[in-house]
Amino acid sequence: MPDNQTPAGIESVLQENRVFPPPKAFAQAAHIKSLAQYKKLYQESVKAPDKFWAKQAKAELVWFKPWKKVLQWREPFAQWFVGGQLNVSYNCLDRHLGTPTANQAALIWEGEPAAPGKPGEERTLTYKQLHHEVCRFANVLKRNGVKKGDRVLIYLPMVPEAAMAMLACARIGAVHSVVFGGFSAQSVADRIQDCQARLVVTADGGYRRGAIVPLKQNVDEALTLKGPDGQLLARSIEKVIVVRRAQNEVSMQAGRDVWWHEEMAQVSADCPAEKMDSEAPLFILYTSGSTGKPKGILHTTAGYLLYVRMTSRLVFDLRPEDIYWCTADVGWVTGHSYVVYGPLANGATSLMYEGAPNDPEPDRFWRIIAKYGVTILYTAPTAIRAFMKWGVEWPRKHDLSSLRLLGTVGEPINPEAWMWYHKHIGGKRCPIVDTWWQTETGGIMITPLPGATPTKPGSATLPFFGIVPEVVDDRGRVVPRNSGGKLVVRKPWPSMLRGLWGDPERYKSVYWTEVPHSYFTGDGCRQDKDGYFWIVGRIDDVLNVAGHRIGTAEVESALVSHQQVAEAAVVGRPDDLKGQALVAFVTLKSGVNADGALRDALRQHVAREIGPVAKPDDIRFAEALPKTRSGKIMRRLLKQIAAGTEIKGDTTTLEDLNVLARLAGTEE
Ligand code: PRX
Repeated sequence: MPDNQTPAGIESVLQENRVFPPPKAFAQAAHIKSLAQYKKLYQESVKAPDKFWAKQAKAELVWFKPWKKVLQWREPFAQWFVGGQLNVSYNCLDRHLGTPTANQAALIWEGEPAAPGKPGEERTLTYKQLHHEVCRFANVLKRNGVKKGDRVLIYLPMVPEAAMAMLACARIGAVHSVVFGGFSAQSVADRIQDCQARLVVTADGGYRRGAIVPLKQNVDEALTLKGPDGQLLARSIEKVIVVRRAQNEVSMQAGRDVWWHEEMAQVSADCPAEKMDSEAPLFILYTSGSTGKPKGILHTTAGYLLYVRMTSRLVFDLRPEDIYWCTADVGWVTGHSYVVYGPLANGATSLMYEGAPNDPEPDRFWRIIAKYGVTILYTAPTAIRAFMKWGVEWPRKHDLSSLRLLGTVGEPINPEAWMWYHKHIGGKRCPIVDTWWQTETGGIMITPLPGATPTKPGSATLPFFGIVPEVVDDRGRVVPRNSGGKLVVRKPWPSMLRGLWGDPERYKSVYWTEVPHSYFTGDGCRQDKDGYFWIVGRIDDVLNVAGHRIGTAEVESALVSHQQVAEAAVVGRPDDLKGQALVAFVTLKSGVNADGALRDALRQHVAREIGPVAKPDDIRFAEALPKTRSGKIMRRLLKQIAAGTEIKGDTTTLEDLNVLARLAGTEE
């Protein structure tokens, strides 16, 4: 081990001393008004968690039947609010109907524009209207054979129908699995096969910077793909429901494919919400891990709903008059928890935007904020770094004075980007909540509360109520303050994943064996003298590229599935914009020519196998990969080569030292 590293092999070099206390006026009006109030409540939440969560669950949610037991914990399997019954769609919609919220906007949707200067398409759905549409679509699902417990795959662009489809599933007790529209036919087929979905909801196409992503065509292809056993991967699918969005031509297979709008015309809006058990599965969301196969993260009903409702209200200090905008796609967990379920459970107004931040021009976000009077903006550091690059003249063109709070999520934010966000977007008056969490955690875990927590640029600060994170060494012992280690969570929490769909063993081995009796996050971290958490980034073979989690093993297996590739190793390289970029080292089968055309072909191949999000930024052809004598690829060395840094550390176990010299010079 090189001596500049801590026992867990994690180095944390960042030193940042600036502190920003919550603005006084903000704190006075906030739900949580001071650090002392936060600390008191936090102590209560961890000292007597059952009492704390029971009180919250009673106050926050509408139950059809009360629970008997707050938590049943048989490590690593948790059950929360055992014996209770409720419905997520009821808690997001029906509960608001008899109140003034009924006529308030639930969703404001801004669509893709056709040309610069031309305003985007716009749609607003009040709670009453959204309820109406969700009830109707729930009846459409039933009409097409979907029953309680069935899985429904949702593969849609950022259109209101995506939220409707999710809520309609929740209403009838079907389990949704949303697949991001940037994933390929192969990814769709693999996910359908893993969760044995019965029905797909898709669209003819989705807009992406003026081009059309052929979603229906991808689904058609997914339904023809075969596995190694020669059988169709997606043979569980009986029906495909297609939203008309981009008007591109699609083929409809009689008996299998139906149009959303035609089906909606056939049904009533009367659809009572099913009584669901607290632990009934709500959704499965696939995410990358350190092996090739994506993991189906399972979230259930009561604990998830309670936690996203509370975190939405307290972290974003949500109130009825807010226009709240989380820029994440519903294909990611942030879109589930903080575009749809959390805000709607609070009766808030959630804005959804279909397109890209620089379409048609780099001021699209600022134009939207000014147009709707957005008060809370929640986005990703990678987007902020792109805005910095595009220049302050774009935000300066617009009136951003409606903003009162900013948030970030998805990756560590560098202090420079934090300061830019604070100054140029927040006008130095808006607190910034840097929220750390994961697909697995369901909701925000480490975060400032904007009226209470002094912030430090680059730190996600302190744990939310009931959350017990710690930074530990390889043996699970807490490391001293200011040294790096592994981030773990010591106690179960309501929105934790309940497991991996159909694979309890993998759940145990991925999350619960690395550090005894603790949930292992896969992240490296440091706590400073004030107990603030500073996330360093992933320490497993998962990369964070522009806020998207990509498993290196997945990209490697996609590359190796190409006929001309013999072996591949994928590593991350620091990237100013995306945080990390993907660099692939590839050795070819003998006789194959390494040229630019093949490089392009391999990038396209990865896009086809996984999706454009996973395309390597850089492909380097090599005669051989550096390996240890036992045959393990030495990724640490490849990372250094990819980053162009001098090769440090121990190379004595390297099989063939010449490989290294050749690799460092093979950029072509
Ligand atoms: O490495 C951490 C990083 O994103 C990972 C989780 O990715 P995913 O499951 O796709 O969920 C992203 C949205 C919740 C984490 O393990 N991450 C997320 N938020 C932060 C972060 N790293 C640093 N600071 C954050 N605020």
